This record gives sequence, C-alpha cells and structure tokens, in this order.
Amino acid sequence: MNRPRKVTTLGQFIIERQRDFPFAKGELSRLLRDIGIAAKIVNREVNKAGLVDILGSTGRENIQGEDVKKLDIFANEQFIAALTSGGECCVIASEENEEIIPIETEISKNAKYVVMIDPLDGSSNIDVNVSIGTIFSIYRRKSLGGPGTLEDCLQAGTEQVAAGYVVYGSSTMLVYTTGRGVNGFTLDPSIGEFCLSHPEMRVPETGVIYSINEGNYIKFPEGIKKYIKYCQEDDKATSRPYSSRYIGSMVADFHRNLIKGGVFIYPQTQKSPNGKLRLCYECNPLAFIVEQAGGKASHGTGRILEITPTDLHQRTPIIIGSVKMVEQVEDFLRQYPGN
Ligand code: AHG
Ligand code: MN
Ligand code: MN
Repeated sequence: MNRPRKVTTLGQFIIERQRDFPFAKGELSRLLRDIGIAAKIVNREVNKAGLVDILGSTGRENIQGEDVKKLDIFANEQFIAALTSGGECCVIASEENEEIIPIETEISKNAKYVVMIDPLDGSSNIDVNVSIGTIFSIYRRKSLGGPGTLEDCLQAGTEQVAAGYVVYGSSTMLVYTTGRGVNGFTLDPSIGEFCLSHPEMRVPETGVIYSINEGNYIKFPEGIKKYIKYCQEDDKATSRPYSSRYIGSMVADFHRNLIKGGVFIYPQTQKSPNGKLRLCYECNPLAFIVEQAGGKASHGTGRILEITPTDLHQRTPIIIGSVKMVEQVEDFLRQYPGN
C-alpha cells in the first residue's frame, strides 16, 4: 500500500525553520504567519473578483449599497489590518500610502519589525484575469520603542531579514526567504493551506527568456536597445533568438524567470531617469530573493540591495534574474553608454 506523502504546510515549515535562529523568540515566525493568513484572504477575493462586483473604481456602490473597493485597496487594508493586530510590526510602509503607517497600539510598542509592502502588484491586470501578486519585505527596527519611524523604513536592501511574494496565478503561491535559501508554497484550496511545493529554489544560471516592455524601445538607453537586438539574433550556440515574455505584473514575470531562467528589465528612460519600479516595495524584496536563489539584481552599474533609500517611494532601474544574463546586460550598458 502506498503511504500518504508527508505534506509540510507553511505554518509547520516556519516553526521548523525557527530552530535555525537559536536566539529568536518567534516574532518573525508570527509575522510571516500573519502575512500568510492575509494572503489567503486576499486570494479569496482575487478568485471571486469576476463574480462579485469587487472590480471597478473606488467609490462606486454595489447592489447591497456598499462601497465597492478596488482589489488593490482591499489588499492594502487586509495586510495593514493583519500587521497592525499581529503585534510584531512597529511600522508599515505601503506603495498605496503616501506616508508611513506607524503602529500606535500597546501590543506593538516593543515590536521589532518593519514591513514594506506592495499589496497588489500588476494592478492593471486585475480586470482582465491575468496573474497579479503581493510583494513584501521585512527589516529589523532601528528606533528604540514606540511606533516605528521613517528612518526604520529607509534602510538599504542588504538589511532585510526576510522578503517574499505571493502570486495569484493559475495556482496561488507564496515564496519567501529569511536569508537561508528560498522556498515556495502552493495554496491547496481544498485544505486552505500553503504547502511546500518548491523547496530550495534556485534560478538557472542562464536562460532563454527576456522580459521587457518592448513598446518603449525608442526610449531605452543605447545598451538596452543593443541587448534587445542581441536577444533577437539567430545563433544556435547560445540558443538565440530568445523568447520574449512580458506579463506586465513584475511579480509574475519574476516568478516565471526564477523557475525557468531569464532576465527581467525595467530600465531608465530619458523621461524617467529612475525607471518605474519602486525600490522599497518591488525591487529590494525581489533582489533579496533572487540573490538567495543564486541570481542577481542590478540597477545597471551595481547591486540593487546596496542602494540607500532617501525617499519611501523612490524608483530604480532594474535588471534581475539569471546571473549570466544580468551580467551580460551590464556589459552591454558599459559597452554602449549612451542614453
Ligand atoms: P503596480 O500594479 O503595483 O503599480 O505595479 C505595476 C508595475 C509592475 O508590476 C510591472 O512590471 C510594471 O508596472 C509594468 O509597467 P509597464 O506597463 O510600464 O510595462
Ligand atoms: Mn507593483
Ligand atoms: Mn501595487
């Protein structure tokens, strides 16, 4: 008789891994668990987005006369509520909020952690049933007590203690790192649990996928234009031409490239010298994950994780994915330095 296979849930895995940190008191584990629970609630709403009238602009009323919330606002509220009531987080910074959200409650005044979050990434894909996600990043606080401060939030990516993302895709997955490798969990909707499905994820050293919004070609720096042309050339030895894949949700594009190998690029343009993507909510967490999986994340001339943020919502150009492909893009930028 076949013995049933052992399933490891996210909750069990987090507790098992806590032993890796002998002096930890379990706060980070609880914080990750809270994020996992909020992700399940967001997933439930994402899944029924086409059924109930949750789509549409904020301010519209549904048939019950209630205010209709857009999913990105709903997701933002869910994560903020989970992190506020959990007691492990002293301040939140969200892509959806102009200012930081210091947590003023009694249970959080000695909380050790800071959370930066993009509650719904790829929001332009919500209404068309295409993969979207959540990206988060966790830091240790710098301030000494009470609600967290802006300084707690403006730390370089190298200071992250954990980072992760959720993709609400053909299945829902949560992928995270605490600096000891990357592990992926798939939500089994029949039991409502994230189950370990992708242990010790590694990004292939190289790949045949490039992901960039080619519609903006004319605006790209010279090195990026030349790299795109390189990807399109015919060369058996390097398996070119490469495949172009661009979903328009960074988290989903990143996830595919993490598994298959590839490079995702969102460069600067003359109009947007810092590109579009946000350092604290999108680039730093994915950079931490990719490095933990053996890949690389660059702003063109250096490591994303080494940028010291000066503004919560600051942007950065990003080249992220398989190490050899990222390095090659950097080479092209060096070789063709023009704008
Ligand atoms: P968000 O939905 O959080 O605002 O992020 C959208 C981002 C990112 O997910 C995606 O890769 C990028 O915007 C797409 O931008 P373009 O439409 O300019 O390609
Ligand atoms: Mn985003
Ligand atoms: Mn967003």
